Amino acid sequence: MTIAASIGTNETWLARSRAAVWHPCTQMKLHETQPPVPIARGAGAWLYDFDGRRYLDAVSSWWVNLFGHAHPAINAAITAQLALLEHAMLAGFTHRPVIELSERRASLAPGSLGHCFYGSDGASAVEIALKMSFHYWRNRGSPEKTGFVSVADGYHGETLGALSVTDVALFRDAYAPLLRHNRVAPSPDPRLAPTGISPREHALAAARALEAILAEHHASTAALIVEPLVQGAAGMAIHDAAYLARARELCTRYGVHLIADEIMTGFGRTGSLFACEQASIAPDFLCLSKGITGGYLPLSVVLTTDDVYAAFYDDDVARGFLHSHSYTGNALACSAALAVLDLLRDQDVLAGNRVRAATLTALAGPLAAHPKVRNFRHLGMIWAFEVDCARQDFARWCFAQALERELLLRPIGKTLYWMPPYVLDDGEMALLAERTLEIVERA
Ligand SMILES: Cc1ncc(COP(=O)(O)O)c(C=O)c1O
Repeated sequence: MTIAASIGTNETWLARSRAAVWHPCTQMKLHETQPPVPIARGAGAWLYDFDGRRYLDAVSSWWVNLFGHAHPAINAAITAQLALLEHAMLAGFTHRPVIELSERRASLAPGSLGHCFYGSDGASAVEIALKMSFHYWRNRGSPEKTGFVSVADGYHGETLGALSVTDVALFRDAYAPLLRHNRVAPSPDPRLAPTGISPREHALAAARALEAILAEHHASTAALIVEPLVQGAAGMAIHDAAYLARARELCTRYGVHLIADEIMTGFGRTGSLFACEQASIAPDFLCLSKGITGGYLPLSVVLTTDDVYAAFYDDDVARGFLHSHSYTGNALACSAALAVLDLLRDQDVLAGNRVRAATLTALAGPLAAHPKVRNFRHLGMIWAFEVDCARQDFARWCFAQALERELLLRPIGKTLYWMPPYVLDDGEMALLAERTLEIVERA
């Protein structure tokens, strides 16, 4: 290894990190007993620290990585783009990577979502969709449509607008005075179903509750925002596609936009390219990020329809969508995203993942049958289950246990999940299943 960044030890980098870096989603005092892991490099599904230990990235580095770390094709695409143009502002300028990406993305998205507006991360895409929906109605003569409906336990990011439609108390409560009031529809999460009620019946009941909200409040509602098929931060809650199909019908009937937040579920994660396909629906706004660049660079996009685009197209500047981020449509990020689309197209990734998923599901048999495991579930390249144990600190304990076993696992509460990159081989899957089982047995 010749790279300077790989020089040093965990200890030296940790001391410097502790003094200067404030980590996301972390009570920093906890690092006194559980310090972060200094990562020197990544290759395939593995991350390596400075002391030479390795960790199987079973959560795709917060759900962003699709094809493993340091993928040669994505590396090459970024390097080639680097020689031409790293970035140019997208207001008043355009460039090849953003044009090609927009054309290709629009042709792959469900429905007719031919207009791409770029942001930098997931939360900025959600802000864009919320603002654009509201502004659409204003431009169309319905300025009273200022409200949003979101789904209980949903997660859409942590900037103030996105947090307003997020329903995770831990992230919301401290900022509640800063947030907009929105209406929250019950979740279709089958874990919440009364005994004897099937996931489908529960999803349909949640859709009926949604209907009641829209019937009463549609005149003041701009959009419904949903995480299609999987509510990630709720603990990989996988619901029946009937909910999504009904939500689409209801939004159309009541004149409310449907915002599909596929920031986590997009790019094959649920087994289809986009989760919406499994309900045969198209949203009015599709938010994408995370896997869009294969986990390389921050980029997000909101795709929308001709109708929405037309509502802003005018001689009056103020009717335009006057929203921007400095790095909108960054050329390097777009080149990584184009390489991801090439890989998805050329390697028949969805078919490969079906084989991979069948293998990992079979290897997980002993886990699924374990007496401490509840609600074992699987969709596409996501597996999740609850661990029935008394430990209040389960998530942190499990994270540490996993590191000792060369795994990166990051439970949500007592929900343990795998969301690996699409590159695990049979040996890596066996290791993941066996060592996770060891942890569950000790829990
Ligand atoms: C469904 C969903 N929406 C939005 C976000 C926010 O994305 P970001 O963390 O890039 O702002 C996330 C992140 O986990 C997500 O899972």
